[in-house]
Amino acid sequence: MVVRELGVTPNLPHSTAADRWPRMYRLFSVVIAAGLLLACLTAYVLENYTVQPAFIESGGVHPRTGQPPYPGRAMDNIFWFLQVSDLHISRFIDPQRTPDFKKFCTETIDVIKPAIVFVTGDLTDAKTQNRIGSVQHEVEWQTYQAILKQSSVLEKTKWIDIKGNHDTFNIPSLESINNYYRKYSAHRKDGSFHYVHQTHFGNYSFICADATPSPGPKRPFNFFGFLNQNKMDELSKLASETVNSNQTIWLGHYTTSTIISASPGIHQLMSSAIAYLCGHLHALGGLMPVLHSRNAQGTLELELADWMDNRKYRLVAFDHDLFSFVDLKFDKWPVVLITNPKSAVYSSPRHEPLGKIKHSTHIRVLAFSPSQITSVLISIDGIALGNAVHIGGPLFSIVWRAEDYSKGIHYIEVRAQDIAGRLTVKGHDFAVEEINLLPFDIMASFILLAPHYIMARVIFVLVFLANIIILVTFRYQRKPQLKESPGVFSLTTFSFHILCKTNIFFYPVLLFTCYVALADIF
Ligand SMILES: *[C@@H]1O[C@H](CO)[C@@H](O)[C@H](O)[C@H]1NC(C)=O
Ligand SMILES: *[C@@H]1O[C@H](CO)[C@@H](O)[C@H](O)[C@H]1NC(C)=O
Ligand SMILES: *[C@@H]1O[C@H](CO)[C@@H](O)[C@H](O)[C@H]1NC(C)=O
Ligand SMILES: [Zn+2]
Repeated sequence: MVVRELGVTPNLPHSTAADRWPRMYRLFSVVIAAGLLLACLTAYVLENYTVQPAFIESGGVHPRTGQPPYPGRAMDNIFWFLQVSDLHISRFIDPQRTPDFKKFCTETIDVIKPAIVFVTGDLTDAKTQNRIGSVQHEVEWQTYQAILKQSSVLEKTKWIDIKGNHDTFNIPSLESINNYYRKYSAHRKDGSFHYVHQTHFGNYSFICADATPSPGPKRPFNFFGFLNQNKMDELSKLASETVNSNQTIWLGHYTTSTIISASPGIHQLMSSAIAYLCGHLHALGGLMPVLHSRNAQGTLELELADWMDNRKYRLVAFDHDLFSFVDLKFDKWPVVLITNPKSAVYSSPRHEPLGKIKHSTHIRVLAFSPSQITSVLISIDGIALGNAVHIGGPLFSIVWRAEDYSKGIHYIEVRAQDIAGRLTVKGHDFAVEEINLLPFDIMASFILLAPHYIMARVIFVLVFLANIIILVTFRYQRKPQLKESPGVFSLTTFSFHILCKTNIFFYPVLLFTCYVALADIF
């Protein structure tokens, strides 16, 4: 009623049917222009992730690429470690999640005997019972700690757990009593750090990057990680400590696409690392089971699916400084990882001494099972080479002539069987001589590497433009006559007409919309 008293008198004459068309035309032009802008931006961002970068020419090859030691028969120059991510230990749902994790800490660790285990964040779920809100539950952290203690896994291996966004939900400051990571995790110290694994054949660096925000906001406001200039400088210092290491790996919770980083950017900072291992996206709820890619600096970015629903974990090995890994399903045995010849897709000439492959005398395979492994049958391009011989620990090897496979790409397959009758077949493409980099899936590259906060901004701008267009359109459109018994739709449009044609409503709303948009920029 108030509206009527204020008088719905637009300060511009009502449009007639004759001049409405040009206006509609202008409106369409704006919409089309906005669409084109979005398309261009998408294409621009996509382009960088579809075309595999030409870093080989600039980056060169690994300094010790053709030098000994070469992969041979002996159990030497090799170690392996595990990664598991997004445990989401919860007091409310999936009661099997915790006992399964306990079995992982006992049986899986006892069988694989990894040098290190990395847990890349989201140790606890920290959600409210309705699954919408977020709150830190001390009991979930106590459960996590109890598993570590009861399984005595900390005495069996080096256990490094880093923080995820769920571990920082709703924490006003790092000193807060709710920062249970400080009390119940194995690592307990906030911030990024550098861990060196020392062996008699070399030193291996692991940089754990902590991009979790502090103070930690509630859901859904901490999907992105942040590395401000201070944190970047810290990481840069850690990166400089790795120059004498044989290999460097970075680990973190967030994918680089969900980290907002200060200069010179996270990809640049980790460029001397062979791989960045992360979690956070949970393989997009199973939609993208393989989220692996390589950034423009040649560093592999390997997202690991969650423990939470998918019960995934990853085995990684360095064999004579050659990097290999396999993503595994919990409790599926035997576990098989071919370390020489390594997979061609995941090769990085700048970071690895790939030239060792052609000098190698043996094919090398790691095979694990709680039961005894009875056979490890090797074939290349469908031709059986025979059973690999057990050398020691999980290592099996068989002699080969690498020069027989010097041209192009070949396929190696391993069939490993244990005494319980379980069988695992595992294979990959490999190359002995240097080949061009093989491309990764476009979608996976885009999801892992594209700066999504930029996309979020583009969408924000488009929503802002749409708002303005709606406001302005209604202002200059003729107000319809209200029928006897108007429906919801005509009532809604009618109210929009009133809102937009009444100055004391229109200008504040317009101002507010602009304010929200501009406030974001500053
Ligand atoms: C795309 O790549 C070019 C050249 O490598 C670079 O200058 C540009 O910043 C990249 N753009 C994006 C959005 O990453
Ligand atoms: C590993 O690092 C230690 C300490 O910096 C050093 O003394 C040792 O020589 C290094 N080992 C190798 C094999 O490079
Ligand atoms: C590790 O690096 C050192 C030199 O820094 C080299 O002598 C050694 O052979 C490397 N280890 C392996 C396994 O290649
Ligand atoms: Zn998670």
